[in-house]
Amino acid sequence: PPLQPFAIRFGADNGTLEPQGPTLQRRMSDLEGLFADRRAWEQAVADGDPVVYTVVSSPVPEAARELPQSITTIFPGDTGGEFWMTKGHQHPDPQGEIYLGLEGRGGLLLFDGDRAEWLDISPGVIGYIPPGWAHRSVNVGDEPYRFLAVYPGSAGHDYGWVLTHGMGLRARRAETEATVGAETEATV
Ligand code: PA5
Ligand code: NI
Repeated sequence: PPLQPFAIRFGADNGTLEPQGPTLQRRMSDLEGLFADRRAWEQAVADGDPVVYTVVSSPVPEAARELPQSITTIFPGDTGGEFWMTKGHQHPDPQGEIYLGLEGRGGLLLFDGDRAEWLDISPGVIGYIPPGWAHRSVNVGDEPYRFLAVYPGSAGHDYGWVLTHGMGLRARRAETEATVGAETEATV
């Protein structure tokens, strides 16, 4: 049966959704092959395998014509100088998606296989992901970075695409405190 209309309360400062659906935690060991510095990644896995981000979803199903939502919280940190980030994915059925910044300072890295774009995301900013652009989120600050995502339920998630193609840019901690968060540099 179709869902009935309902209200969802979101915790901008704690990442909760009420009512809540599935949740997941991604640890460093789940991010194999994504950081440029593999040794630093191995060291971080050996050194406690920290939780890098969590995703809390609402109960709206990932089904055609539905609009599921989720809140992602990326903890602050870097691995080999590269800011902590999500795995990143393509939607196998190319459809748009929006992210709304809730807390902290982050960025949305977009890559269509040719061009890479970087959007600064902070509370009150909506990042628009057009159909066909792979996307990854990055915490460039010193506190948790949190955003709400709203996406078509039939879009799907292709993580292999990013392992094959990369994301075009990497977000690294700059040498000097003054430019932390501003720098991105080309993938090798
Ligand atoms: O729908 C989205 O794009 C987000 O909710 C992401 O799935 C979330 O941020 C986690 O990133 P990833 O799916 O790349 O691990
Ligand atoms: Ni997505």
